[in-house]
Amino acid sequence: MDSSEYPEQDEFSGVKKAKAPVYGVGDSTLRAAGGEQGVKQLVDAFYHYMDTLPVAAKVRAMHSPDLTESKAKLTTFLIGWMGGPSRYAEMYGSINIPGAHRHLDIGLAEKDAWLLCMQKALDDQPYEETFKRYVMVQLSFPAEMCRNRK
Ligand code: HEM
Repeated sequence: MDSSEYPEQDEFSGVKKAKAPVYGVGDSTLRAAGGEQGVKQLVDAFYHYMDTLPVAAKVRAMHSPDLTESKAKLTTFLIGWMGGPSRYAEMYGSINIPGAHRHLDIGLAEKDAWLLCMQKALDDQPYEETFKRYVMVQLSFPAEMCRNRK
């Protein structure tokens, strides 16, 4: 990580932020995730937890038995979402995340199970704690938008 990723101290708040890495600018998020290969590993771990955690069984059952396509789609989507090449539309067509989940029965329990799989997958990666929190906070918004009942 080079020094350009560390912003200067905030001159207005006086809060020392010099050690806080910046994510969400250009492809900084993708680089922090280990590049495209890192995202692939993250998604493999995510679906491993979805496949094995009892609390995620209901969400797992919403997917087809073979997870190959789901893994490929989520990996491609996240690479673009993290500031990398946006290949999702050309490969699978345009996507609107809440719209793509409207046919699914997603309540708080399903949303929490999805996010738990992501948290556990992130914890398996050699990522900074700040980065893991950033990803979880950022994903919690679309996850909430996918929820269509209590
Ligand atoms: C809130 C909890 C979520 C649940 C329970 C959930 C569940 C699912 C399921 C079951 C599928 C497969 C749908 C099908 O085959 O018909 C799917 C597809 C997908 N999900 Fe989610 N998802 C959630 C949140 C998210 C979030 C937060 C993102 C990304 C920001 C995401 C990205 C995707 C993508 C890109 C696909 C492939 C869409 C397609 O082409 O059909 N999902 N999701």
